[in-house]
Amino acid sequence: MNLKQKMINSSTKIVKNKKLNDRQYLLEIQWNDFHNIKPSNFFMIAINNASIVLKRPIAIFDYDTNKKTISFIYNVVGKGTLNLSKLKVNDKISVIGPIGNNFGEYKNKNILIVCGGTGIYPMYLFAKTFSNLNKITFLCGVKTKSNLTIYNHLKKLNINLITCSDDGTIGFKGNPIDWLNKNIDNYTYDIALTCGPNILMKLTYEITKSKNIKTLASLEKRMGCGFGVCMACSIKTKNNMRRVCVDGPVFDMDELIYE
Ligand SMILES: Cc1cc2nc3c(=O)[nH]c(=O)nc-3n(C[C@H](O)[C@H](O)[C@H](O)COP(=O)(O)OP(=O)(O)OC[C@H]3O[C@@H](n4cnc5c(N)ncnc54)[C@H](O)[C@@H]3O)c2cc1C
Ligand code: FES
Repeated sequence: MNLKQKMINSSTKIVKNKKLNDRQYLLEIQWNDFHNIKPSNFFMIAINNASIVLKRPIAIFDYDTNKKTISFIYNVVGKGTLNLSKLKVNDKISVIGPIGNNFGEYKNKNILIVCGGTGIYPMYLFAKTFSNLNKITFLCGVKTKSNLTIYNHLKKLNINLITCSDDGTIGFKGNPIDWLNKNIDNYTYDIALTCGPNILMKLTYEITKSKNIKTLASLEKRMGCGFGVCMACSIKTKNNMRRVCVDGPVFDMDELIYE
């Protein structure tokens, strides 16, 4: 895959920047070129603030070829995302994307998705893209019900949706790992895909590896440039150093080193 051919450095317009709950926002930008977009691709998004030079990486949540928009869901965690949340409809915004590899194409497979937190958003696009061709179990975890702002989107998909919440306000009371430990023996899967907090991906892999299920993870790492130059996103793997932005964000978990 030649990333330099596919990513576009563009100034575009904000179509929506809507608050979903106390820290989540849905950002929609105008976009024209959709043929390269794949689930788990991300964009580097400028913050439009002179004191914040670096763009921030955010995964594609969804896109609409009729409306000509791409959408993202982001959590406000620091000054970049806080400033992003203050941008208004019709504001100009500079972005680079789509960036990164993807989970691949699937047909007639039993797919297990394990995701949590911000990792739920890219997995939604995967499930939306492949749910009619495969049997997908979508296992997702949140702290509490109000954090699962995309529940209605997920409910519309042809998937086996299993929600987990730490406080029991939605679905299974506990986290996705508790659910897997109780239930994995009742199912067979061809492949597992995971995205979310490192601990969730690591523990998922411990379980899936013990069942000989190939497991891919989409990683989140702090980024500088987003196109392979600054090395800020480097990780140590069994195949030497790799950059999450251009070599990932999706990696085979057999390749990763967990310390
Ligand atoms: C490929 C990729 C896809 C992502 N997709 C999404 C998404 O769909 N929605 C979403 O809300 N967030 C996503 N993130 C995380 C998002 O990029 C960070 O939350 C954001 O850059 C924080 O910027 P900030 O200036 O607000 O926070 P900062 O002030 O830079 O940091 C605030 C806190 O967030 C942590 N942080 C900063 N950057 C990252 C990062 N890249 N990964 C993990 N923790 C980080 C810091 O360690 C610190 O604790 C993604 C990250 C990557 C690499
Ligand atoms: S963010 Fe610069 S090399 Fe990956």
